[in-house]
Amino acid sequence: MADEEQHLLKCQSYQIPAPHSSTSLANSGSRKTSNNLFSGFQAWFSDHWQKLSDPKMAGGVFAVEASPTAAGSGGKITVAVFFTCLMAATGGLIFGYDIGISGGVTTMESFLKKFFPSVFRNMASAKQNVYCVYDSQLLTSFTSSLYIAGLVASLGAGKVTRAMGRRASMLLGGCTFLAGAAINGVAVNIVMLILGRILLGFGVGFTNQATPVYLSEMAPPKWRGAFNSGFQFFIGIGVVTANLINYGTARIHTWGWRLSLGLAAVPALIMTVAALFLPDTPSSLIQRGHTELAKETLRRARGSSADLDAEFEEFARACQASKVVTSPYQMILRRRYRPHLVMSVAIPFFQQMTGINVIAFYSPILFQTVGFGKDSSLMAAVILGLVNLASILVSTYVVDRYGRRILFLAGGAQMIICQVAVACVLAAKIGASGDMPLTKGDSLAVLILMCIYAAGFGWSWGPLSWLVPSEIFPLEIRPAGQSISVAINFVTTFVLAQTFLAMLCHFKYGSFLFYAGWIALMTAFVALFLPETKGIPLDAMNGVWKRHWYWGRFLADDDSNL
Ligand code: BGC
Repeated sequence: MADEEQHLLKCQSYQIPAPHSSTSLANSGSRKTSNNLFSGFQAWFSDHWQKLSDPKMAGGVFAVEASPTAAGSGGKITVAVFFTCLMAATGGLIFGYDIGISGGVTTMESFLKKFFPSVFRNMASAKQNVYCVYDSQLLTSFTSSLYIAGLVASLGAGKVTRAMGRRASMLLGGCTFLAGAAINGVAVNIVMLILGRILLGFGVGFTNQATPVYLSEMAPPKWRGAFNSGFQFFIGIGVVTANLINYGTARIHTWGWRLSLGLAAVPALIMTVAALFLPDTPSSLIQRGHTELAKETLRRARGSSADLDAEFEEFARACQASKVVTSPYQMILRRRYRPHLVMSVAIPFFQQMTGINVIAFYSPILFQTVGFGKDSSLMAAVILGLVNLASILVSTYVVDRYGRRILFLAGGAQMIICQVAVACVLAAKIGASGDMPLTKGDSLAVLILMCIYAAGFGWSWGPLSWLVPSEIFPLEIRPAGQSISVAINFVTTFVLAQTFLAMLCHFKYGSFLFYAGWIALMTAFVALFLPETKGIPLDAMNGVWKRHWYWGRFLADDDSNL
């Protein structure tokens, strides 16, 4: 109890130290207590950080107006915060690499021959219905075992992220992913293969939980959407890189797959090293009692000329509220958090029901299924990835200017049209029997439609499904809410990955109509239930729900029963 009171005291509103008058990050109290092996690196980085955040240094602060809704320094982008978030966003690389690599590896003959001989035999017998060649539960369990591990890890990550900080979870994620990549690269049997994937799953579980929260907390409120979309951007880079690697390694007949799987170590190293250099977020620091360090970090992130008192006071208030919450997973079930809980489940669930993952995992298989040759299938997957990447940049530009809702609605409409059109082409050309090959022109039409679909996802549900959950929760339930959201993402991905090839085999082109139906539903859901969150500081988000036509009733008795 005494500890709690002491902590609450620490959480009181402090004055932000005057520019340059404060102790350096490396000398601050909590810094000294850190016996982190890498504190030397961090000290180095923090010195550079300090210089970058000084507006007198060239380019110290980009001239961007603050939003009237953003507290204090909400609109300034310092070079320091830009690079910090860029480094943090590399957390998306490992997830993307895995998504891209599994699709290609599972079409490689040497891989299938070694681990999935029955699928290999199916492939060899050309008589199969084209929709059904790859329908094997064992093969899908290879892809989806990662998601079960990720699901468990993401729930645990909520606790680590709250107790030890966002950066600690990111580091843990990077290291476990590295171990998984090593085991997969040298796998000699299916047990090693699955064990490796479980470790990869732990890696993405931790990283996907912590990185979006890190980005949203560190970003200037006015540009939070753009900064957060960096995570999806790096997922996209991971996907494209992996597809290109598969394209090359598919030519190395006996061990190309090893290279594909083992090279997952590279993105893992990049993100782990990046995480080593990062400071934790001010919110997390203040929540864990490192008040001085939190002030210092905020000052550096926002620039020494910024007026930070308002933003810091919000943190301190949020910290007080969060301290009394000992069991966030129970807390989030309370009535006043109903909108948050619903969104933390609905958003990631709907994201997967766009069908993106089954297309991302299986795009090489899918393109082969609809008549592309083996090489052109992998290339088509690369093209899809590049389109997706470009569209994320569009989202980065638009999301803080025009808001989240418009992107959700426009992207949704675009995806529905494409899925229906793909279903029509397949129905007219291949038919339900699945034994008529597509002509070149038809295949091209499918590819173009898929690209338009990927663009629709890239500027809507892709980045926004990481952004929205990371920005709507109050501090006291933020890690728990994000954990739930990641867990739902993984469990839905798992179920879809496990069932998609069977579904393609049985529903044929109807699979695409199935996803179109879901996208229609989620677009209506956004229109009715998701309020606009653009430019609102994280700790002022409550008001958005209070004013909402539906969710308002859940927060009517707010403040009385935290
Ligand atoms: C999704 C993944 C998906 C990826 C595609 C992410 O936002 O969560 O499931 O594979 O985007 O780029």
